[in-house]
Amino acid sequence: MIESSDIETVLECVGKTGVWMTACRAVITSHYIANFNDDQDQEINHDNEINKRKKEFELKSMEILKKKKDLINLTDKRMEIKYPTKFHFDPYSLYFISQLDTKDLILKTYDHYFNTMYDKEYKSLDQETKSLSRQELRKRELDKIENNFHSVLSWTDLMGTHIYYGVALRTHLIDQVFLDSYQHGIKQFVLFGSGLDTRAFRLALDSECTIFEIDLPGVIQFKKTAFREAIYEIPRASDCQVKYIPCDLLKQDWIGLLKQSGFESNKPTLWISEGLFQYLNVSAIESIGQQVQENSAPQSKYFIQTLMKTAPDAPPYPAHHEDALKMRANTVADEFQFTLLPDAKEYLIKHGFSSNIQQSFEMAEGFTSLYSFGSNQ
Ligand SMILES: C[S@@+](CC[C@H](N)C(=O)[O-])C[C@H]1O[C@@H](n2cnc3c(N)ncnc32)[C@H](O)[C@@H]1O
Repeated sequence: MIESSDIETVLECVGKTGVWMTACRAVITSHYIANFNDDQDQEINHDNEINKRKKEFELKSMEILKKKKDLINLTDKRMEIKYPTKFHFDPYSLYFISQLDTKDLILKTYDHYFNTMYDKEYKSLDQETKSLSRQELRKRELDKIENNFHSVLSWTDLMGTHIYYGVALRTHLIDQVFLDSYQHGIKQFVLFGSGLDTRAFRLALDSECTIFEIDLPGVIQFKKTAFREAIYEIPRASDCQVKYIPCDLLKQDWIGLLKQSGFESNKPTLWISEGLFQYLNVSAIESIGQQVQENSAPQSKYFIQTLMKTAPDAPPYPAHHEDALKMRANTVADEFQFTLLPDAKEYLIKHGFSSNIQQSFEMAEGFTSLYSFGSNQ
């Protein structure tokens, strides 16, 4: 059972952004389940052990999840929303979300950002909505969420659909990088700001693999407790070891803690920083780069996902009218420190990951997500 004090610690700290990410994955997973066709065996190459285990894990999880009406309501009208074909399956995300008081969290979040949203979106509101006072509109929108509440699908009422596209893409892309590195012999993985990442549970990895997850103590405590219940019902797809490193990357000797937990600098490592750097400062990011460089055996890799302000000449994001007062990426964007990593490529090169650098962009509304990946061989 999760203590409410654990939940509060997470929700009051920067860790709540990890909750948002898992909420996005829970919505995408619901849509994945709704569109899942058990008879289809497409894309599955049974010679490939990973694909085989992935399929088994998915089928078993589906069976359990489809029976759980409190987690997933396939008849809710919000399931009719059109999502891109790239859905993502993360059964644990549904458990995490359903264990929180999501109603309270969603209502508080909406209330917190309402004025910013109102000011930013006023011009795009229709005439009828504009005729309401700010307070009337606030009440109407909060009532709408309150009266039509569902622990997973109400996230769509809060954030609209735009944010999920990016999260589906990002999760899929990093899964591919992860599995590709594994198939090329990497057995050691370090996740900075791991939040409620579930790769250590849903990817088919062998028992020689170790995933080290670094995040704030409150986030890790919450995650460990939530997992105890989740994996009781949905056994993990992976045999890998998971080592949690509860620490504040801004204040603590994370590399010392990592080594104490069994990290070995002489083994090739995949380092992943996903959705983290916007919360750190320049010297912490530099120091992480330096420590990573000093502790990376040949054939290590470094993957960074970070945010940049959208280029001024970027085409406008196609906003949908019905989403007018949903929380948009650019509502929270004001709180990020975008200047921290303007040139991720230069950062990778500076810290020794200059081989096979690949970069890609994904445009959200208000900012661009930048994916940068390099290797030190
Ligand atoms: C946007 S979430 C991303 C979580 C996860 N990587 C994902 O993509 O789902 C950011 C994570 O960074 C963690 N974080 C932020 N500042 C941190 C710090 N100073 N030390 C350790 N973790 C931190 C938060 O607790 C949160 O879990």
